[in-house]
Amino acid sequence: MSPPGVARFIASLFPNVDKSTCRLLDAGAGMGALSAAFLERCVAGELEFTSLAVDAYEFDEVLLDGLRETLVGYAGRLPLSARVLSGDFVEQAVSSLGLWGGPRYSHAILNPPYKKIQSHSRHRLLLRQAGIETSNMYSAFVALALALLEDGGQLVAIIPRSFCNGPYFRPFRNFLLARAAIRHIHLFAARDQAFKADGVLQENLILRLERGAIQGPVTVSTSTDDSFADYLEHVHPFERIVVPGDPERFIHIPISPEAPAHEALPGLDHKLAALGLEVSTGPVVDFRLRDWLRDQPGPDTVPLLYPGHFRAGRLVWPLADARKPNAIVQHDETAKWLYPSGCYCVTRRLSSKEEKHRIVAGVVDPALLPGASALGFENHLNVFHQGRHGLPELLVLGLAAFLNSGIADAQFRRFNGHTQVNATDLRRMVYPNRDLLFELGAWAKTRGDRVLAEVDDKLETLLA
Ligand SMILES: C[S@@+](CC[C@H](N)C(=O)[O-])C[C@H]1O[C@@H](n2cnc3c(N)ncnc32)[C@H](O)[C@@H]1O
Repeated sequence: MSPPGVARFIASLFPNVDKSTCRLLDAGAGMGALSAAFLERCVAGELEFTSLAVDAYEFDEVLLDGLRETLVGYAGRLPLSARVLSGDFVEQAVSSLGLWGGPRYSHAILNPPYKKIQSHSRHRLLLRQAGIETSNMYSAFVALALALLEDGGQLVAIIPRSFCNGPYFRPFRNFLLARAAIRHIHLFAARDQAFKADGVLQENLILRLERGAIQGPVTVSTSTDDSFADYLEHVHPFERIVVPGDPERFIHIPISPEAPAHEALPGLDHKLAALGLEVSTGPVVDFRLRDWLRDQPGPDTVPLLYPGHFRAGRLVWPLADARKPNAIVQHDETAKWLYPSGCYCVTRRLSSKEEKHRIVAGVVDPALLPGASALGFENHLNVFHQGRHGLPELLVLGLAAFLNSGIADAQFRRFNGHTQVNATDLRRMVYPNRDLLFELGAWAKTRGDRVLAEVDDKLETLLA
């Protein structure tokens, strides 16, 4: 349920537009915390309507009495008619949209449920009927609410950040951007590294959309927690939020007014493909190849590398206290999962919240794997390669130094709010050109353990 401070903030984002009638949708209304915060603003005269109608949908029967009570509490104070609609919002919204284009709301306020929608479930099929392709309940609720809004209608929702990037949410992003303008995004984020934003809130954002409106600049605000004590906002051109021409339509969320490092540094302008490089997820999925894995290397095996084999970016192999296998049998059956021996840059697919940077890169130095003719990369690693072959050593050192930099981290965080670093994300990023990566690699070779501490200064001079 929405805490009162969050509910008040969500309601505060609705502008006082010139409208006599308000038809408010609260889908997944719970006990009505969000509707109540909205109606409080009407009572206070901050939002002015001559008539108000609220439709509150709630699935959980236990909450219905409480929800009715909340809404009835406002009937004497406002020209309000309120309906509590029990049952499944998805079902009701899809059937009314199909039958008569649905009711038309002027406002929607949502803190929807978060739950995966399985690919062959009834919900998935229902949503498809309404032209909505999405795999989570929260995006389904937002899409349906948007479909039920009239032109100029306002929607404010608190939802996970995960829809901003990642291939699964692409149809949802397209649906949203085709129908509405993004007006405001609020993040629970700490600007100062010394403070951490609230853990649970940090995964979420608050979004205000305006149906059928022309997209203009977007307000991005931040606060560390739901007291909003350190609230700060900046206005950004939309091109900084969704990069023109981006087929993925990732939604970037800049948290400071300055142009992000990679925009400010003119030398940072190459996509991986332009560098002739590729990145892939490690193909060895250990539980599928269990019979071919070995704790320690033997005469018929080649090295199998897990994230645990990299300590501060350096390869340590084999590990004596192997909690994971160190090797994979080289055989016709395993050949297609292996890379030829060579020098590679790898990154971990999962970083922990405590880690300073989201991207943690390491170097596979073939000199540390004597005699190996091939290599297995486990599925929790991403591998940079060229046509499934290794890369020149200095290029790998430069790439790893760049990926471990604060500049790369800042760029990455603008479009990815979680701790997973997938190959798609790495393909989205911009890199220094090949010559600069070689130069950075040559520098990194001489700096040894000091690379991490010094790489940002070095990059600033190289890229300026
Ligand atoms: C995260 S809670 C938010 C409640 C309330 N909006 C608030 O902010 O306090 C989501 C609510 O959606 C309800 N819900 C879940 N699935 C639903 C469905 N298919 N149709 C209607 N309501 C649903 C849950 O019972 C829960 O009360």
